[in-house]
Amino acid sequence: MSSSAELPATPLTARASGPLRGRVRPPGDKSISHRAFLFGLLTRGLTRVEGLLEGDDVLRTGQACRALGAVIERHAPGSWTVQGPGLGSLLAPRETLDFGNAGTGSRLMMGVVGGHPLTATFDGDASLRKRPMRRILDPLKRMGAQVVAEAEGGRCPITLRGADEAAPIVYHTPVASAQIKSAVLLAGLNARGTTTVIETEASRDHTEKMLRHFGADVSVEVEGEGRKITLVGRPELRPNPVIVPADPSSAAFPIVAALIAPGSDIVVEGVMMNPLRTGLLTTLLEMGARIEVLDRRTEGGEDVADLRVRASELKGVDVPAARAPSMIDEYPILAVAAAFASGVTRMRGLHELRVKESDRLAAVAAGLVAAGMTPEIVGDDLVVEGSGAVPGGGFVKTHLDHRIAMSFLVLGLAARAPMTIDDRDTIATSFPNFRPLMAGLGADISE
Ligand code: S3P
Repeated sequence: MSSSAELPATPLTARASGPLRGRVRPPGDKSISHRAFLFGLLTRGLTRVEGLLEGDDVLRTGQACRALGAVIERHAPGSWTVQGPGLGSLLAPRETLDFGNAGTGSRLMMGVVGGHPLTATFDGDASLRKRPMRRILDPLKRMGAQVVAEAEGGRCPITLRGADEAAPIVYHTPVASAQIKSAVLLAGLNARGTTTVIETEASRDHTEKMLRHFGADVSVEVEGEGRKITLVGRPELRPNPVIVPADPSSAAFPIVAALIAPGSDIVVEGVMMNPLRTGLLTTLLEMGARIEVLDRRTEGGEDVADLRVRASELKGVDVPAARAPSMIDEYPILAVAAAFASGVTRMRGLHELRVKESDRLAAVAAGLVAAGMTPEIVGDDLVVEGSGAVPGGGFVKTHLDHRIAMSFLVLGLAARAPMTIDDRDTIATSFPNFRPLMAGLGADISE
């Protein structure tokens, strides 16, 4: 696991690389991997997990699940078991739960704790300590949880005392956020009665799918662009193996690298094609990307496919705000694609990017400026004008944000001059084998 933020950071440089070639399988999906540990904790008995992402974020969630009573073992790369005490039988953790960089792990675990009569303290790195948590704490308080202590502005470290008897609620999420939705549903699991979450824009649905997979009574109604999710509390969850597909948010890096590095022709295997996660693919296709969807199949309850990606002449497009929930983590790498496209790309409605692992709107714009571009932030929109070529030659601050790090390394693979990022360690958050995987395709990334 990555160590504390105080250690000196090691920079990493990406240089123009020849055509990328080969077949790669990105690591397991981060959202599903976090949930695999959490559902294992909440299910009495042995849950098997295959293809787990062994990134720092997920391992932190695993540590926290252990502190609440789960016995977690690794049998082979990606192959794990979780022996859960089960819903209603969790232990109170003796020490602070340190989630490192993991927003998803910490927020979903707040939901778990919020629905149980136990107290836990949540903390993390400098990035996590900046992230807003009231969006999670507010609904949990309505369900009976109490915030015993919090840092200014409802931030970590936070001590949460879960409800003695969680109250089922009807909750309208104020922003499209799978983390808010999931925290309420996970707390609702231990409530007597029916918990309902209503979202006006659909966010990723992994929690709902996994609730059903583990035997909970959950129903989902489509309401316009949104969803109404209803969960009957106190189910008898049953162990059911979890097979984790490849993460489309990680696949995005080799995909865009192949699109912008001249002559490239690669296949990215086993990518999850859940429609609530494919906004980047839709956008890249609109930009003229040569991406072929091969061998669509179902793995572990999700649609997956292999994607053949060839270097392409991209053109700028207008990306509607309504698409943001289905590609929320992909804007940094889309901005890189936009820098290599001809014409203007306008990415609309990016206010949520300001509260990610970094202020991603500012970090992306600063990175593009370092690469010799002139992006603009107009309200909540990011506007990037490309001319097909990018100067590069800059130094990018990653602000403990793995996706900023990987995005600007990818940019360096096709820019005129190399790009350097300030901190290579942050990449292990979500994509520990990023460097060998990219090197296997022919990318030149080194210290
Ligand atoms: C996630 C939800 C999204 C996303 C994050 C993973 C999840 O966050 O950005 O990386 O697994 O539920 P929000 O809920 O804040 O949109």
